[in-house]
Amino acid sequence: MAMKATHAGAVAGAVVVCLCAVVAVQVQAAVAGGDGVEGTVRTLVEAAIKGDPRLGPALLRLVFHDCWVNGCDGSVLLDTTPFNGSSGTEKAAGRNIGLAGFEVIDTIKAKLGDTVSCADIVVLAGRDAAAVMSRGKINYTVVTGRRDGVVSSAAAAAATLPDSVFKIGQLKDNFAAKNFTAEELVVLSGAHAVGVSHLSSFQDRLSSSRSVSTPITAAYKAALGKDVEAQKAVQNTTDPTEPFNIRDMDAGFRNASGFDAAGVDTAAVGVLDNSFYLANTQNMVLLRSDWELLNATDTRRKVSVLGGNATRWEMEFAAAMAKLSNLPAEGTRFEVRKSCRSINNLN
Ligand code: HEM
Repeated sequence: MAMKATHAGAVAGAVVVCLCAVVAVQVQAAVAGGDGVEGTVRTLVEAAIKGDPRLGPALLRLVFHDCWVNGCDGSVLLDTTPFNGSSGTEKAAGRNIGLAGFEVIDTIKAKLGDTVSCADIVVLAGRDAAAVMSRGKINYTVVTGRRDGVVSSAAAAAATLPDSVFKIGQLKDNFAAKNFTAEELVVLSGAHAVGVSHLSSFQDRLSSSRSVSTPITAAYKAALGKDVEAQKAVQNTTDPTEPFNIRDMDAGFRNASGFDAAGVDTAAVGVLDNSFYLANTQNMVLLRSDWELLNATDTRRKVSVLGGNATRWEMEFAAAMAKLSNLPAEGTRFEVRKSCRSINNLN
């Protein structure tokens, strides 16, 4: 009996040990899996931005432009699909001018293989770009498991994405349609602390025509107009780009504009911080849609609050990006694409 009991105890002990080992292995596998995907994305995003800092803003913008149109479904990445309503894919939409970072997504996809969706890669890469550009200040959790859509239409992008000449009411309506508040509109617009815009997107801000002009500091407008002409030659195009953030212009430009750098770290070129709001209150932002945030009491107040509180903006920006990254995919047919640029079966 005693022998039996001892034996039974030993067997039970062995089962417990055995179960523990199985659980331990499973936990390890789950952790390794998470680290594997997220770690790979982080490594490749860091390397990409190190190689070309312009890719940071590009990856951040991709999240907005993917998730706003049909939800987060990788639709912005498609070069071709039969389901485009004959208007071309989203990339062909005018409001997607300057969209970039697609090669980074391709590189990540090639490394991760067929089980990770392109839609997941877009939100993970954008999240990591925000972390890198903010020097680790902006962090948020992203749930994965998205699947890729098969529809991508330029007409839908044109109808859904906000335009740079939108007025404050149009901007609020555009965000409300996606269940985002006016406060979140202001918070997310802070992304325009980094990156560039084409002249064609802010041409109206340089205009002297009273019908299209919006308040912009005269000295800044003059400096911008002068730099645009110089950049046409440098970039060899009639539609050159300019940095969004006056912080990122050289000291000569900032001084000529009369920029008050109090509260702005002018050495932090390319850093994703709340400096957008400080430039905005001085009427020194590129887009009309940026300036429009000053044109309603609630949004103007929010601009002022965020300009005075860097930590608050970082936290609210992270929360709003997490919400953006969670916009559910619309549509009925999904897959995990093999290539982010085309659907698996074109027929
Ligand atoms: C509120 C409405 C918005 C409008 C009207 C708008 C419009 C624009 C325009 C016109 C450009 C420049 C395109 C070009 O000419 O090359 C741009 C760039 C950019 N936008 Fe927005 N945007 C908005 C909201 C957002 C949001 C919510 C995000 C956040 C994810 C964002 C992130 C960016 C970034 C990072 C760039 C720079 C991209 C680069 O340098 O490659 N924008 N946006």
